[in-house]
Amino acid sequence: MRTKALYTGSFDPLTNGHFNIIERAAKLYDELTIGIIVNPSKRSMFSLEERVDMIRETVRGLDNVKVDCFSGLLADYVNENGFNVVVRGLRAAMDFEYEIQMAHMNARLFNETVETVFLMTDPKYSFISSSMMKEVHSLGGSIEGLVPDEILKRMNRSAGNK
Ligand code: COA
Repeated sequence: MRTKALYTGSFDPLTNGHFNIIERAAKLYDELTIGIIVNPSKRSMFSLEERVDMIRETVRGLDNVKVDCFSGLLADYVNENGFNVVVRGLRAAMDFEYEIQMAHMNARLFNETVETVFLMTDPKYSFISSSMMKEVHSLGGSIEGLVPDEILKRMNRSAGNK
C-alpha cells in the first residue's frame, strides 16, 4: 500500500522545526502533503498565497513533498483526499495534552485506515513557535538558523515594506 501522509498547520511562517519534521516524514512515507490551514482564529503575517509560495520554494528539493491548503475540518480534508497518516510534531510536554485531545477527537472522525503519528521535534527547535519567530524578528532580534533562509528573506522583505 502506498502511504500518503499529511503534515498540517498554519505555518505562518514555516520554521526550521517544521522543516525538520517535513524532511524526516518525507523519508518515512511515499508521499507527503503539507496542508496549510486557513485558521480564522489566528491573525496571519503572510497571506495563504504567500505561504504556499514560500513553502513550495523551501521544499523544492524534496521530490515526494507537495503543498496544498484547506479550510474547515481536518478530518474531512483527510478522508476526502485518502490520506493514511497525519503527522504531528511534539516539541515538549506542553504539546502533549493538546495533541492527545486532538488525536482522540480526530480518531473518531477519520476513516478507519487513518493514523495520527507523532515525531519528536529536534531539540534544537523544541522551544520555537511561529509567533515567537514573528515577535523576535519584528523587534529586531536575530532568528537566523531558526527559520529556513528563503523564509527569512521573505520576512525581511515584508518588514521592509511596512
Ligand atoms: N517546530 C516549531 N514550531 C512548531 C512545531 C515544530 N515542530 N510544531 C508546532 N509548532 C508551532 C507552530 O508554529 C504554532 O505556532 P503559533 O501558535 O505561534 O502559530 C504552534 O506550534 C502550534 O502549532 P499547531 O498545533 O500545528 O497549530 P496550527 O495553528 O499551526 O495548526 C491545526 C492547528 C491545523 C492542527 C488544528 O487547528 C486543526 O486541525 N484545525 C482544523 C479544524 C479542526 O479539524 N478542528 C478539530 C480538531 S480535533
